[in-house]
Amino acid sequence: MAETFYRKILCIGAGYVGGPTMAVIANQCPEYKVTVVDVNQARIDAWNSSSLPIYEPGLKERVERVRGRNLFFSTAVDEHIAEADIIFVAVNTPTKTFGEGAGKAADLQFLEKTARRIKENSTTDKIVVEKSTLPVRSAEALTTILHSGRNSVRFEVLSNPEFMAEGTAIQDMEHPDRVLIGSMDTPTGLAARDELIRLYSKWVPRERIITTNLWSSELSKLVANAFLAQRISSINSIAALCETTEADVQEVARAVGKDSRIGPKFLNAGVGFGGSCFRKDILNLVYLCEHFQLNEVARFWEQVIAINDYQVDRFIRRVLRSQFTTLVGKKVAVFGFAFKPDTGDTRDAPAIPICRRLLAEKAHLTITDPHAIDSARRDLEGLEGLGGQLSFAADPYEAARGAHAILLITEWKQFLDLDYEKIFDSMEQPASLFDGRNHLDHQALFDIGFNVHPLGKPSLVHI
Ligand SMILES: NC(=O)c1ccc[n+]([C@@H]2O[C@H](COP(=O)([O-])OP(=O)(O)OC[C@H]3O[C@@H](n4cnc5c(N)ncnc54)[C@H](O)[C@@H]3O)[C@@H](O)[C@H]2O)c1
Repeated sequence: MAETFYRKILCIGAGYVGGPTMAVIANQCPEYKVTVVDVNQARIDAWNSSSLPIYEPGLKERVERVRGRNLFFSTAVDEHIAEADIIFVAVNTPTKTFGEGAGKAADLQFLEKTARRIKENSTTDKIVVEKSTLPVRSAEALTTILHSGRNSVRFEVLSNPEFMAEGTAIQDMEHPDRVLIGSMDTPTGLAARDELIRLYSKWVPRERIITTNLWSSELSKLVANAFLAQRISSINSIAALCETTEADVQEVARAVGKDSRIGPKFLNAGVGFGGSCFRKDILNLVYLCEHFQLNEVARFWEQVIAINDYQVDRFIRRVLRSQFTTLVGKKVAVFGFAFKPDTGDTRDAPAIPICRRLLAEKAHLTITDPHAIDSARRDLEGLEGLGGQLSFAADPYEAARGAHAILLITEWKQFLDLDYEKIFDSMEQPASLFDGRNHLDHQALFDIGFNVHPLGKPSLVHI
């Protein structure tokens, strides 16, 4: 059958961003052929199977509805570059771990490799869309690489950062607060921008599609993440003050959030933010500021990360204090390992440093999580060497049996519906529960008999 697609879209990078964004585009735009490529064969095989490589509510249904019709997953990168009209680049841009800028700057090696591969395999003009989160002015580097050498093909680079949040990726992509498109202010730049507007207009109201210059678009993504993380660190810093003054951080957040200038969202105190983006993007922002000698600005944003680390430290110290300063040989049940609920993603999850610290105290950890046990196993591999013991349990009741304490680290809905009386009866006494997300009903748990340690409010302890 001859292919009669209006346009051929390619996405390079079949990860948390590439897979779900392209599944949504393919569902919304049947007249576009959407192919997602990756160098990771196992990942592509998983996208082509019934067990997708990532978990997101609604993703599987979306993929299965259009896979093989106008959504394809492949490792044939070069061949699909050649046929594409629009190429989204959604490769990873982790924090650099070596050389100049190590620990802060973005590692752009995957982006550069991708740009060179696009250049080498293109014989027709293409629009190249930055979907990855990149330092401001990356489009300049991308354009330079794409147009280097003796290639007559024209590439128009756009910035279209992804604002979805893991756990609600599909909902966020189908009903975005905004879609941001940055372009050059040239006739070809504006024409490419209009091509992308046409695509998004299939399902996004036009007034939600914002256009800017390239640099504003690139920078907006870093700034959005920095602002979100900053709100979490702000309320977490206040949680520390609440714990020492008998104020209640949830009451403070409610009172403050009622101010329409502030708003109620992202004011939940907890053990800190995680995920692959917040820390990385703030470090990237800090590096950029330092590069431009804006040292005061760099220090300001660095503090957001310092408070996040401090939050984990405080949490561990509180656990230790309540456990008579020793965890040696004690079983501790860790409820939740993913960095947030409704995802199996554990990248930079606060559970990782928390478990590391507990293992160094020689505790016996049992970890339970509805979707992240396999990742947890990988993340903690070899850490028993610190002196503690590790086990994993799909069943929270099993995880809690014989434990001295439960640490709730991820606010999965599943943890709300457990029979905490049954759990309490199966635990060592005194049984403690540390609610690192203020997720549970603390008074009810106290009434069952638990010593309850919420975050940012006084503990409820039986004397
Ligand atoms: N995860 C999120 O919530 C999120 C949200 C918004 C933006 N972002 C940004 O999107 C980008 C991708 O993030 P992610 O979480 O999807 O990363 P990821 O690691 O899950 O996926 C990236 C994929 O790119 C592939 N890849 C790397 N180099 C390649 C190459 N040369 N050719 C083909 N494939 C290649 C990798 O194999 C990997 O599968 C990052 O810049 C990230 O900051 C992520």
